Amino acid sequence: MICLGIEGTAEKTGVGIVDGDGNILAMTGNQLFPEEGGIHPRMAAEHHAEWIPKLIPQAIEESGLSYEDIDMISFSQGPGLGPGLRIVATSARSLALSLKKPIIGVNHCIAHVEVGKLDTGAVNPVSLYVSGGNSQVIAHESGRYRIFGETLDIAIGNCLDHFGRETGLGHPGGPVIEKLSKQGSYIDLPYVVKGMDFSFSGLLSAALREAKKGTPIEDICFSLQETAFSMLVEVTERALSHTQKDEVMLCGGVAANSRLREMLNTMSEEHGAKFYMPEMKLCGDNGVMIAWLGLLMFREFGSMDLSQTGIIQKFRTDEVDIPWVDNVKT
Ligand code: ATP
Ligand code: FE2
Repeated sequence: MICLGIEGTAEKTGVGIVDGDGNILAMTGNQLFPEEGGIHPRMAAEHHAEWIPKLIPQAIEESGLSYEDIDMISFSQGPGLGPGLRIVATSARSLALSLKKPIIGVNHCIAHVEVGKLDTGAVNPVSLYVSGGNSQVIAHESGRYRIFGETLDIAIGNCLDHFGRETGLGHPGGPVIEKLSKQGSYIDLPYVVKGMDFSFSGLLSAALREAKKGTPIEDICFSLQETAFSMLVEVTERALSHTQKDEVMLCGGVAANSRLREMLNTMSEEHGAKFYMPEMKLCGDNGVMIAWLGLLMFREFGSMDLSQTGIIQKFRTDEVDIPWVDNVKT
């Protein structure tokens, strides 16, 4: 079975081709870089509309296959920006109809976790998924991926990017903040964990206030990272204790940060849990993860009817039955 998957929940357009054993046959993608400000949903949609028709033939060529070899089509059904999701779903439907193949819409956050497991060999981890648009602690329990903790407002990547834009460090802020943080020392910033959830908007405002006051930017970057990452690690640690699992996995674009990796690794070691992180190219948004989850879902549930392929902008991680993980013993 060979699946072609199309990703387009945010500003990255991606196409991947994967076979039933999890071999990656092709991975093509293109990212929109806005000239200024954040991502406008309409611009992201136009980007997908421009790039999907180019990335599909590129992926087919890269795989050395022909269109007839593709057995099914999958696409990111949500969560994400509405206009872009609509372009992705329409493209997937057109391709599936013209090739007369089954179609499956999949959850983007679960796709991050499943491709991470495929790449790292983790079996049943507590996952910290951190990106520009999402921040969730996810673990499988009672037949579904449950959200053990999540952001109450903005995502961690969005927090870093917003800080970068407002202070003239540029977009995306994450990598620049990481670099500057290496020369910084600690200043007090608000640490906000409520129950099992975290919040970054108060932290962002406080960091921006410090920048206005003239506090050295290196100190703010260091403290922003230390505070935000400690919040993420605390919630992951509590989910690990609660679930009694013995694996921790980091995924999403913010996984590029070596300080976050170090903190999560240390916490995992203290609990005797194994720490995993997929290859960086599979951490960010990509079409391969959509294709792989498409295959897993198809094995369990078969094809979707076209009437079930509508987009789900606020698609929650815990809305999908995931029976295959319960069958695995760690
Ligand atoms: P999603 O649709 O899953 O929300 P995304 O569109 O945000 O994904 P990703 O590539 O997963 O795309 O993540 C991009 C984010 O990762 C940006 O917010 C960026 O600042 C952040 N990032 C990249 N490198 C680093 C780094 N070294 N340290 C911290 N954050 C980083
Ligand atoms: Fe993502």
